[in-house]
Amino acid sequence: MITHERFREVMASFPSGVVVLTAFGQDSLPRGLTVSAFCAVSLDPPLALACIDKTSNTLPAVQHAGGFTANILAAGREQLARRMATKLSDKFDGIAWRRPGSAHGGPILEDDCAAYAVCTLRDTIEAGDHWILIGNVVEGDHLVGVSPMVFSRRGYFGL
Ligand SMILES: Cc1cc2nc3c(=O)[nH]c(=O)nc-3n(C[C@H](O)[C@H](O)[C@H](O)COP(=O)(O)O)c2cc1C
Repeated sequence: MITHERFREVMASFPSGVVVLTAFGQDSLPRGLTVSAFCAVSLDPPLALACIDKTSNTLPAVQHAGGFTANILAAGREQLARRMATKLSDKFDGIAWRRPGSAHGGPILEDDCAAYAVCTLRDTIEAGDHWILIGNVVEGDHLVGVSPMVFSRRGYFGL
């Protein structure tokens, strides 16, 4: 049986991007968290997934809104990634965001991302201590000339 620490070390050796997954809560306020577990699932239809801890305070907002936005952070946004990885209730104070076209999506952090994908929630699958959220990607863009941030072995890198 692998220990939690060894499992973390193994998975941390698979580099990923860094996503701030956002949704609007029942009070219409923005919620969000930093995730590395995000990837494409299907091209036709366009599907993407994210894995979210069952204790996340952002989950009720995703369920209420019926969707989320995956903001793929730009290089150099370590501070934002760290802030969104806290349980602070004022995480979004001072952060620029705009509403997506879809009523189901979450805030788009256009000043801080290399790309974003607005998703409507298609499936929620229970997997251990996480939920796998599968979204239909209904809107998105990438910002030409903005490099994404890479996360590996607890370090943040630019490309
Ligand atoms: C680089 C990085 C990657 C993370 N990836 C995930 C992830 O894939 N899924 C997850 O549930 N939490 C992930 N976390 C932890 C959450 O961001 C953290 O638990 C956060 O406080 C949850 O906030 P919330 O309860 O307001 O939703 C990650 C944190 C960091 C710094």
